[in-house]
Amino acid sequence: MARGDLRRFHRDPLGFLEDLSRRRSTDVFRLPWGGWCAGETELALAVLRDPGFNAGLSTFYGDLLPSRSAQIAVGHAVRNIIRARLPEYRENLAAAVPRLPAAGRWPETGTALVYECLADLLLHPAAAPELRSLLARSVGGGLLIRSPLMRERARAEILRSRLFTALIRHIGRRRGQGVDPGGPRDLLDAVLDACPRETTDEVVAELYVLLFRSIVGNVGYAVAWTVLLAGLHHPPGAPWPWPTDWIVRESARHRPFVWMVGRPVPHPIECGGVALRPGTILSVSPYLLHHDERHWSRPDAFDPERWAHPDKRGPYLPFSAGPFICAGAAVAQTMTTDTVAALAADARLTVLGGHTRPVVTNAAAPCAFTLSRTTEPLTRSHAPERR
Ligand code: HEM
Repeated sequence: MARGDLRRFHRDPLGFLEDLSRRRSTDVFRLPWGGWCAGETELALAVLRDPGFNAGLSTFYGDLLPSRSAQIAVGHAVRNIIRARLPEYRENLAAAVPRLPAAGRWPETGTALVYECLADLLLHPAAAPELRSLLARSVGGGLLIRSPLMRERARAEILRSRLFTALIRHIGRRRGQGVDPGGPRDLLDAVLDACPRETTDEVVAELYVLLFRSIVGNVGYAVAWTVLLAGLHHPPGAPWPWPTDWIVRESARHRPFVWMVGRPVPHPIECGGVALRPGTILSVSPYLLHHDERHWSRPDAFDPERWAHPDKRGPYLPFSAGPFICAGAAVAQTMTTDTVAALAADARLTVLGGHTRPVVTNAAAPCAFTLSRTTEPLTRSHAPERR
């Protein structure tokens, strides 16, 4: 990327993308970091749904699994174990939220909270303590999303290598013990049961970490965006007047954590007025679609009230769309809403020092902010409406 573009991108990544889209002369425009992006909403939706762009293996798993049916089996197994343990997640939230400091640093508090409430589901308590400790450290150690800072990326690489060594050793041991007759005890059992028998320990470890990041990172950052945006758009300390579900949805519309999804072009094709070569990555930006004025009224406003009228909404794809849509969308939505509801219950939340511009690398994460949470009892007239 040219230096001027890089500076503008760092200053305001989403504004930079909008500007590129606004200045385009064709429905598809070139991205300065490589590949192309569908700038027109209908074309973007067609790319996500078109069997030509969505045949074969999904890019989420890359080449880790040999077939689409194996990918689907792993996605379903993971979703099922999380769905079955949602009551345990809620119980853990009820115990963990009161232990949070009165003023916490976010977004890391959000990812740490989600991790803490899922820890036994992610890795059974009987697993090696060293591995459990490495997993816990990976949450704040830069493994969930790529840091924009070289120094932090290097530190995350060292941690990643130690985590993989411990994980591969553990996977070998667990395979030796055989399948637990009571069904999968944790995420690792679910992955091991669902993936083909010949999958190597190294690949199982890659799959496990990929899913670990999708669960803890995506949900944790979605929670962080929600408390930040609701806090910035409402008087400090006053209870939010909106149902939690509306705030979670509106936050994922306003600032989708997954801001780009890519599809490799399958064969030479003319798309949106541009000739694309096979293998080129054609991206769709949920952010651009969520801010298209032809489909959303006042798209730049953070307005949870719009979710009172679901018929008035435009294309909404925080979890993507089409055959490769997120396998965990429904459980992710429930977990995010439950977490935000637990944080807001009987509490006054105040955001200090945040703004709405994200830090964008492979995902669009909220900037650093402080969330103060105090728990004086609320009077009945101030009690927030819940879900
Ligand atoms: C707020 C939280 C989450 C968000 C925003 C999110 C978003 C996404 C997106 C955008 C994709 C890529 C789809 C594409 O390439 O078109 C994806 C894929 C996927 N996600 Fe999620 N995700 C979240 C949470 C979860 C959770 C909790 C799970 C586990 C149950 C999960 C499992 C998956 C799987 C397995 C795929 C791959 C689907 C496939 O290729 O078949 N995600 N997710």
